[in-house]
Amino acid sequence: MTAAPMAPTAGPSREAVGQSFDRVDGRAKVTGAARYSAEIPIPGLTYAYVVGARIACGRITAIDTSTALSEDGVLAVLTHQNLPRVATLPPLIPSLAGTAAPGQTFFPMQDDIVHYAGQQVALVVADTYERAQHAASLVRVTYAETPSVTTIGQGRDSAYEPESIFGGFMPGRIERGNIQAGLDHADVRVEATYTFAANNHNPIEPSATTAQWQGDELVLHDATQGVNATQMTVARLLGIPLSRIRVISQYVGGSFGSKAMVHNHCALAAMAAREVGRPVKLALTREQMFTSVGHREEQEQQLAVGATRDGRLTAIRHHKISVTSRFDDWAEPSLGVSSQLYACPHYQGIYRLIRGNTMTPTFMRAPGEASGMFALECAMDELAGELGLDPVELRLRNRTDHDPNSGLPWSSSGLRECYERGAARFGWGERGTDPRTRREGHWLIGSGMASAAYPVAPPGSPQRARARLYADGTAVVQAATPEFGTGVTTVMTQVAADALGMPCERCRFEHGDTDLPSIAAAVGSAGAAMISAAVHSAATALRNQMIARAVGDRGSPLHGANPVDVVVRDGVMTAGTAAESYVSLLQRHFLPDAEATGSWSPPGAADAEYAMLTFGAQFAEVAVDPELGLIRVRRMTGAFAPGRVLNPKTATGQLMGGTLWGLGQALLEANHMDPDTGRWANSSLGEYLVAVNADAPDVDVELIEVDDPVVNPLGVKGVGEIGQVGVAAAIANAVHNATGRRIRKLPITIEDIL
Ligand code: MOS
Repeated sequence: MTAAPMAPTAGPSREAVGQSFDRVDGRAKVTGAARYSAEIPIPGLTYAYVVGARIACGRITAIDTSTALSEDGVLAVLTHQNLPRVATLPPLIPSLAGTAAPGQTFFPMQDDIVHYAGQQVALVVADTYERAQHAASLVRVTYAETPSVTTIGQGRDSAYEPESIFGGFMPGRIERGNIQAGLDHADVRVEATYTFAANNHNPIEPSATTAQWQGDELVLHDATQGVNATQMTVARLLGIPLSRIRVISQYVGGSFGSKAMVHNHCALAAMAAREVGRPVKLALTREQMFTSVGHREEQEQQLAVGATRDGRLTAIRHHKISVTSRFDDWAEPSLGVSSQLYACPHYQGIYRLIRGNTMTPTFMRAPGEASGMFALECAMDELAGELGLDPVELRLRNRTDHDPNSGLPWSSSGLRECYERGAARFGWGERGTDPRTRREGHWLIGSGMASAAYPVAPPGSPQRARARLYADGTAVVQAATPEFGTGVTTVMTQVAADALGMPCERCRFEHGDTDLPSIAAAVGSAGAAMISAAVHSAATALRNQMIARAVGDRGSPLHGANPVDVVVRDGVMTAGTAAESYVSLLQRHFLPDAEATGSWSPPGAADAEYAMLTFGAQFAEVAVDPELGLIRVRRMTGAFAPGRVLNPKTATGQLMGGTLWGLGQALLEANHMDPDTGRWANSSLGEYLVAVNADAPDVDVELIEVDDPVVNPLGVKGVGEIGQVGVAAAIANAVHNATGRRIRKLPITIEDIL
């Protein structure tokens, strides 16, 4: 465990939760003391370099590794001809479930078949990275190529309706009411098709795994959102006991879903290390990230929305077609939140998939919500125009207090406040209702808005943490989760301090190791919620244990007090005028420490009495140069109701980051398959554009706290993804307001405006 530096604080922290603490790992990160998975110094380390398939479909007819093997420093060249077979291929289940979670149900180098370009076909191990990279260029692979399918255009005729999607987590079809009747009853209808380019995650830290065998024990340093998911997946693939594999991942340099599932390079590193008898580091290059860790799939969504003249929705028909891999029925669940957000009696959502020559797509920030809500919220804007209603008013008229799919009431909402306060903050009232009414020089100015919503997705398994109090008055709280860039280490220090009744400065959060109590992979914006629940539970159990010891101890001033009357502040237990510190109690009994574990079992879906979503409303102002086709986003406002806010600074950072990512989704981020070669057109940050500072306008975030006693002990609903959800639609709607042009594709590019 690396000791995270103590939090700089303004003073005694009796109520740490809710305060904008600085990051406890900030200093370690800016000084380079925080180590990432590819930076762990290990004696005798060797380096693996992946050779990816140059074709998208076909067979390997020959591999000549002799030249590569004869190079200095090369220790092994692994191919399908000599790599051992994997023991089992676990099913595709999202990592949040707390099980093995492979990124796809295909493991490379098990036979001679090529399913997608970039698929690992050889792995070179050498004593330096440069030698491995050079030798990889000398591996001669001969292919027999057959035609590939990689785009919707190529595969449309072969599309099928899957039974389930998203690793079997979601049904392939969602229906309520009678969609045709709903559309027939509508006074006004909007029908449109929305297209979406594929997207790739580009976290600053590319994925990397370092594998080290110590006898028959395996230690992995892996860049992952969940060490237990890596542990379980690699154990299954290699056929080794869970007790023989330890996964360490303290710091992760961004992930956004690319490190949620456990991708093939991870077990390959372990297999290579076993082959060469030395530790192996396998770090993906930026280019390899585009073909090795999943992506957001290319998709098309068809939407038909019907409403009465007074703006009540009667029907939403939302169909999606997208490209998946040859092995898995994966679609991001674009029809989830779109089916839940509005009161609408008739709904039909249908997914259709095309088997293509790509790897299995995966989670990518707001997976499904960010695309599905673009379609729905653009259609709502069109509908508002048709009805002559203000877009905010249309949404208020269709707001619902319960989930229209299940009929269950929301555990909490805050959506009305989000609309109202977001609109006030943004100055929505100053917007010109009709398009092309605001001008500044040659710039056309427009404003748009959209709703945002994101599921509260509790993990599928209990979450655990451990708290330990030392006789010198310091405390450590432990859980397996990595610090994946969100501020989880900081926030958990705050949660632990409050539950123990101690100042943050004397508490430390240890994390990122399967030797610590298990935590599911932090996905679905669930990290802060599930980890805080476990930490709160462990720290509360320890405080109660200390109180019980004191009141039962004849030597304590608290002897005989009622435990419920005891409060703890600054490490001192007090009941009335009697008081004793944790330190005094431990020292009097010659105890070096005291310890407790805590566990939080998420509410099960089967007996749920509430439905859970996080809500928000987002607003954007754009300036469009119609001659040059330029779009500048001038400002964005979001109001969000994420339950309880544990740390406004880190929460706002998440929401601002999500909002800026939404800007990238709206205007920049795109990857396209070259249908002739079946390869991605973009494989670098020079070509795959992401929003940078020059693109970033002012982002204004309002946090609206809502009380939610249902979701988890601290009432946390999550902020990781909702910031992105409504942005692209708000921008597209603003472009329409500015120009009168309705653009139904993402990203919106210069050509779309001209
Ligand atoms: Mo997040 S895209 O659910 O890992």
